Amino acid sequence: MLNQRKLNIVPSYRVDNPSLDQEARKTAMRLREMGREDPLNFWAEMSREVDWFQSWKKVLDESNAPFYSWFVGGKLNVSYNCLDRHIAGWRRNKAALIFESERGESRVLTYQDLYREVNRLASGLLKLGVKREDVVTIYMPMIPEAVIAMLACSRIGVPHSVVFGGFSADALRNRLADACSRFVITADGGFRRGRAFSLKENVDRALRETSWAVEKVVVASNTGEAVSMREGRDLWFTDVLAQGELYCQPEMVDAEDPLFILYSSGTTGKPKGILHTTGGYLVGVHTTYKYTFDHREEDVYWCTADIGWITGHSYIVYGPLSNGATVLLYEGSPDYPAQDRFWSIIEKYQVSVFYTAPTAVRLFMKWGEKCPAAHDLSSLRLLGSVGEPINPEAWLWYYRHIGKERCPVMDTWWQTETGMFLITPLPGEESFVPGAAMHPFPGVEVDVLNERGEPVRGEQGYLVVKRPWPAMFRTLYHDPERYLNTYWKRYEGFYLAGDGAKKDEDGIIWVTGRIDDVINVSGHRIGTAEIESVLVEHEAVAEAAVIGKKHEIKGQAVAAFVTLKEGYNGTQELEEKLKGLVVSRIGALARPEEIFFSAELPKTRSGKIMRRLLRDIAEGNVLGDTTTLMDPQVVASIKEKYGSLAG
Ligand code: WTA
Repeated sequence: MLNQRKLNIVPSYRVDNPSLDQEARKTAMRLREMGREDPLNFWAEMSREVDWFQSWKKVLDESNAPFYSWFVGGKLNVSYNCLDRHIAGWRRNKAALIFESERGESRVLTYQDLYREVNRLASGLLKLGVKREDVVTIYMPMIPEAVIAMLACSRIGVPHSVVFGGFSADALRNRLADACSRFVITADGGFRRGRAFSLKENVDRALRETSWAVEKVVVASNTGEAVSMREGRDLWFTDVLAQGELYCQPEMVDAEDPLFILYSSGTTGKPKGILHTTGGYLVGVHTTYKYTFDHREEDVYWCTADIGWITGHSYIVYGPLSNGATVLLYEGSPDYPAQDRFWSIIEKYQVSVFYTAPTAVRLFMKWGEKCPAAHDLSSLRLLGSVGEPINPEAWLWYYRHIGKERCPVMDTWWQTETGMFLITPLPGEESFVPGAAMHPFPGVEVDVLNERGEPVRGEQGYLVVKRPWPAMFRTLYHDPERYLNTYWKRYEGFYLAGDGAKKDEDGIIWVTGRIDDVINVSGHRIGTAEIESVLVEHEAVAEAAVIGKKHEIKGQAVAAFVTLKEGYNGTQELEEKLKGLVVSRIGALARPEEIFFSAELPKTRSGKIMRRLLRDIAEGNVLGDTTTLMDPQVVASIKEKYGSLAG
């Protein structure tokens, strides 16, 4: 039980596992032992849970490192693993997807239903001319058709590129162009807080000026709002399904054939096409889902992420469905029609495993404990967190008011690149350290290093992964150089995660957040350089520096420091224009919360903008070292002006 007096967290503060049973303890110890003794053998063992059409010959091929290959020679199909093998047995009539729309309608698809729809769409796509060498772009709201589309692509061995529905037409166009997609699957639109928004319009806008030819746009009907359909190019989802056969042979793909590309932000203006392949990815997400969430057949599992992010890929679609889980899919916002929507959904469907983000937990904290208290949450047995470090206060609130001190909390650290959980507690943990992701998953080896590459304990260093893991990304699409330089150059043979971390004497790992120019706003990963390059597009802007400023709910908020060209003034109107420009180029998620006009930006003698100092100014911190600055006076004047505005 929690000791109220200990709420001021000390680093080694522990909460006993409230639901520890001997079986879970034994499983955790057995897996860790296996993983320590022989990691490759561990993954070989785990691969047995996946159905292979042809067995693999070698677990890992390191001959072309860091371009690793896993399960060499193996042949399989992901949709077969997520569907066919379940419908062959009793799971045929088990709910695969439970969909709750924002308006409160539910739709249940059994494994048989999902299988039928996926087969029809897969076959329909083939009839439209989709080929193995294509990349199908999926731009959809959180509706079952999005999952059907992903699985249909995997069935015919064609990689998908899912673009988050919150991205703007411009952002969609860039991603479509990079992948040279000839096919797009979208919907008329989605719902957000009771209002319909259009996605099809964004697709039309994105396709207006393209240098390549998008041949077909498949449109699912969701909002029912009028959309313009271009003759010969646009087709309704239901018509494509109707053209499709009831059975579409699953393509036998190689373990190393691509399964998907997912664009993610990095430290330059151009998003990275993170490429995942088939065999290792499936083994990784299947295993981590099963053991971290202690998968049970009767579970109703709800992950609140969007399918546009890696969490949606690995832990709404592929990991759970490969395990034959029942997955809840919710389309809308947590506060519509009221702030207790999530809790009423948990009560309605008797959700047992709930996986969300710290930013959501902080929002729930703000809304108060009365909301969850008004609902029966007794069906919950396990909680999860992902997206950013969870502050101990939020962890404890989640544990108390949602888990009622009965449910263990899995704080899972991972990334788009890692594909699967790499650092996480297991349900068989004796105790948890609120705020710490705790231990590497079995078979995974991580460390925290200093600048010189030496392991550090008790203080912050760089988080690295010391050996390859099966669900790792294989490269950056079209850009293997960037893959090498960003992740593998810093420490020879180790993967550089881009996060800072601390490892204490007990081996507990605390991930402290990004140490590069990537920021994390409400669990969404955004590159500061992407926003900067949009801001400098404006004719008035000479230079821009974007930082993530601490934010009570979002974790970080976007703040921009902008210098203007001669003859321009930093008016309110210009500020609004610049914010609008960011929204139209990237999406509302990147909208700067504040724009600060400054005569100059602090730079090092080599001309590099000192973002760290800007962050200190914005957060009102004592300023760090300014000795390397070209002109320390610049900082003093920004600080003074900023302080007077903020105050
Ligand atoms: C952060 C999301 C601390 C981290 C799955 C990482 C976390 C980035 C955690 C990846 C966690 C995610 N504790 N930090 N449990 N989970 N992060 O690619 O900074 O969208 O590098 O993948 O989120 O974000 P991405």
